[in-house]
Amino acid sequence: MTLVDYEALATAAQNARNLAYAPYSRFQVGAAVLTASGKIFCGGNIENAAYPLTMCAERVAIYSAYAAGEREILALAVVTATDDVASPCGACRQVMIELAPQCEVLLLNLQGDERRTSPHELLPHSFGPSQLDEANR
Ligand code: THU
Repeated sequence: MTLVDYEALATAAQNARNLAYAPYSRFQVGAAVLTASGKIFCGGNIENAAYPLTMCAERVAIYSAYAAGEREILALAVVTATDDVASPCGACRQVMIELAPQCEVLLLNLQGDERRTSPHELLPHSFGPSQLDEANR
């Protein structure tokens, strides 16, 4: 069983934040996920001059893990330089429900404040794969 090294995950997310490409908002976000195989995958937000094409840090990290063949995400850390900790956007919450439903979510800022939550707490009453299964029965 993989134990969660929260400090290593937070450090990875902080480092990823420094690599974010956010020239328009100047709001850099870093994320890191730990998978069941013990690997860490990171991502910063990646913006675009065509603003809606922007990709959040959380999804870069989660998709990166999936792209490497990982299918079980144990924990996700998100770091922002905000007074309070970050609050993931709705799109990222939906992606967490789909791809990392049981993971532990750590929201952090640079001052060391931390909130622990979960995809289901962030997105209650969500639409998810089980509803599609029910409709197809
Ligand atoms: N952003 C994230 O990367 N994650 C979040 O949870 C909220 C917002 C990014 C998107 C955009 O590049 C910038 O932060 C400002 O919205």
